[in-house]
This record gives sequence, C-alpha cells and structure tokens, in this order.
Amino acid sequence: MAQVVRISDIAQYEGQEVTIKGWVYNIRSSGKLRFILVRDGSETIQCVVFKNDVSEDSFSAADALSQESSLIVTGVVAADKRSPLGFEIQVKEVEAIQIAPEYPISKKEHGTDFLMDHRHLWLRSKRQHAILRIRHQIIHAAREFFDNRDFILVDSPIFTPNAAEGTSTLFETDYFGSKAYLTQSGQLYAEAGAMAFGKAYCFGPTFRAEKSKTRRHLTEFWMIEPEAAFFDLQDDMQLAEDFVEHLVMSVVKNRRKELEVLERDISKLEAVKAPFPKIHYNEAVEILKKNGNEFMPGDDFGAADETVISQQFDRPVIVHHYPAAVKAFYMKRDENEPEYALAMDMLAPEGYGEIIGGSQREDDYDTLLKRLKEHNLPEEAFKWYLDLRKYGSVPHSGFGLGIERTVAWISGIKHIRETIPYPRLIQRLYP
Ligand code: 4AD
Ligand code: MG
Repeated sequence: MAQVVRISDIAQYEGQEVTIKGWVYNIRSSGKLRFILVRDGSETIQCVVFKNDVSEDSFSAADALSQESSLIVTGVVAADKRSPLGFEIQVKEVEAIQIAPEYPISKKEHGTDFLMDHRHLWLRSKRQHAILRIRHQIIHAAREFFDNRDFILVDSPIFTPNAAEGTSTLFETDYFGSKAYLTQSGQLYAEAGAMAFGKAYCFGPTFRAEKSKTRRHLTEFWMIEPEAAFFDLQDDMQLAEDFVEHLVMSVVKNRRKELEVLERDISKLEAVKAPFPKIHYNEAVEILKKNGNEFMPGDDFGAADETVISQQFDRPVIVHHYPAAVKAFYMKRDENEPEYALAMDMLAPEGYGEIIGGSQREDDYDTLLKRLKEHNLPEEAFKWYLDLRKYGSVPHSGFGLGIERTVAWISGIKHIRETIPYPRLIQRLYP
C-alpha cells in the first residue's frame, strides 16, 4: 500500500503512487482492460486495470467487482483530459474488501417511493451528495453567522411540557406516566437564553404533527432560532436579511460545483443581497387582490398566496404586521395598530414560500398571561416562561429559520423530502 489519499486531493499527487479506499460506482471491461469508477465519498475517479500490469490475484479481484463492492486500489495518478476530475489512476493492485450482490439502485429510472425506501443507499448518489453538501454548508454558515455576532448557543429541550406553536400539531408521548410533547420550536427557551446572555440561539430538530401532505412540510425538521434582548421588530428583520444573504453567499462561494450538478440557476442566487423588500401585511393583500387570488383579508397566507407575493420580487420578501388573530400567543401587538402583531415572515423567491417566521415578543406579564388564557393554554406549564416577564423583562425579538425549506430553495429542488437525510412525512417513518 502506498500513501492513502482522498480522491478530492488527487491533483496533488500527479505521477505518484497512491492508495484509495472506497466503493465501485461503475465498472466496465474491454479486452484486457477493466475500468473501475471508484468513489470514496469525496469524489469519483476512473481506475484503469491493464491485465499485463497487475498480478493475477489483482485482475481476478477486479473481475469479481460489482456496483457498490468495497475495495482498495493502489496505482499511479496520471493526468487525463477526458475525465471531469482531470486525472485517472493506472492501477498496480486491486483488493476487494466485500463483493456486493446486485445493487438495488441502478441506472434505470426508479420511482420516488422506491428510492425513499432505499434512502440509506440512495445517499450514495451524485444528486443526493450535492444536496447534502449544500445542507452541510448552510448549517455551517448559519452557526458561523451567529457565532461571529456573539450569539451564544443555548439549546432547547426536545421533550417539553407545553405547546409553543398551537396545540393542533403536537406529538404527544408518555413521560413516565405524565404527558410530554415533542418540541415544535425552541423559541420559548431561547427567550430565556436571551435574558441570560443578551443574544442566544438554539438549533435542533423540531416536530409537528402536520396533517398536510405538501412539498414543504415535514413532521421532523431542523430549525435555527436566534433571540436577542433589546431587539425590536426592525432589528429582527435586519438580522434575518443579513443572515439569509450570508447563507446564500456562502453556498454560492463554496458549493458552486454542487449547484451545477443540480442545474441551479446561480444568477438567481447572486441577486439575493440585503436589504430585502419589506411590506406590510395589507400591502401583501393588495398584491393578491391585483393578481386575482381568492383571499379573505385577515387570514394567514396559503402556499398559493405566498407564491404570488414572492413572485413580485427578485429576492426574498419580508411580510410584517400580520393580523394578531392568526398568529401565536407570544407575539407583541403594535400599539399603533393593535389588531396587528409585530410579526414577520420571510418568503423565499421562486415560489418556495415561507422560510422564516419571527416576531417581537410580548414582554408585559399581565398581557402575556391574558394571551395564554385567550389561547386556552395551561398557565401552570408556562409558569417558568412568565417568570421571564417578572424578573427584568425587556423588549426582545427573534425568529426561526427552517433548514430544509432553505436547502430546497437554495438547491432549487422541488420537494422538501430530499433536503434531509431521513425525511419524516405522514406516510414515511422508514428507513
Ligand atoms: O413560522 P414558524 O412556525 O415559527 C416558529 O416556530 C417560531 N417559534 C420561530 C421563532 O420565532 N423562534 O416556523 C419557523 C420556520 C418556518 O418559516 C419554516 O421555514 C419552518 O420553520 N417550518 C417547517 N419546515 C418544514 N416542515 C414543517 N412542517 C415546518 N413548519 C415550519
Ligand atoms: Mg410561520
């Protein structure tokens, strides 16, 4: 064995003998030649086995290989203009680690259900690699953004005694004889973090028993939620637009190759520069009217409404001042127009819909208590949350960005199910 290298680093080893460890992506033969396309997770490279150059053992090992068999290959790195990577390996030795039986995912077209049933294997394909690398980049950039701005990571629990986002989408579980719920949002705890550290964020999986079967809804999704003391709605919207610009630019800069694999129109992403347009809910309603949408003013927007609104702009649009009646109990109302909440949603362009929901929070103890009662929420479970308004309450705001919807938009893929390694949907709990 020579020095073991990653295929993505292969350019540094031209003319040298190296060893790579990986899996067979594809194999074909022609006379005394065997062409093994090897992937190691970082890249794929063609390895050329010439019968006269290798031992009999190596040649028969090569002959026994099948798609996704695991192997170790040693050979010399040679420039090759025809390969997308620019290099191939002239093989000296092949060692098969395990020979795979017929691989279920072949070149032929498979239905989505079949692929989703084989999600644990599907992750090995080029398109899934591109999407998951973009997801990785977005999560990296998200943490980087808040870390650089001195937000402290204060994670929220997943088992909770209370609802955060309405009681209709709660997953309930037995917690040693009493009821617990899987968290719908880490926000309420992030508020406690903001009162402790000034600026805090949480990042984790969140759960909603969504009965809606759409291309935007998962029952388990990841949310990053910053929360800051002394932030009003304006500060919150500005933080959100700077944040989303940072995410997009980080992907454009570092994951261009992956965007190309997905045939993403990169010019649309390059346009995503702050400041973003910000419109009052009533202006959004006007847009819907003008476009002939059937919409009842006062309602929340549906997917079709969001698409029409976002189509008016070349970058994400922030809609603020939603009717308080359709929003969560914790949102503060605007004292100048008390029917409206100091709320904001960010809608992604190109019909991807809401990626961020946020607001300024109600900071007055008595008002918050009144809201809890109006929403029929149990005061007992929220005692700790009310404490935050009792001990040094300050104006504060925050938001939550859904990672998977952001990945879908930036990657330019239609359905949210490919944006997470193992999607959880109403009808999917396997694998
Ligand atoms: O608008 P939502 O419900 O806001 C909250 O949960 C706030 N407590 C956040 C906060 O202020 N800290 O959800 C926030 C985002 C949405 O904009 C969307 O991107 C994502 O979470 N989201 C979902 N993503 C996938 N599947 C679902 N079922 C989702 N529900 C919400
Ligand atoms: Mg929302």
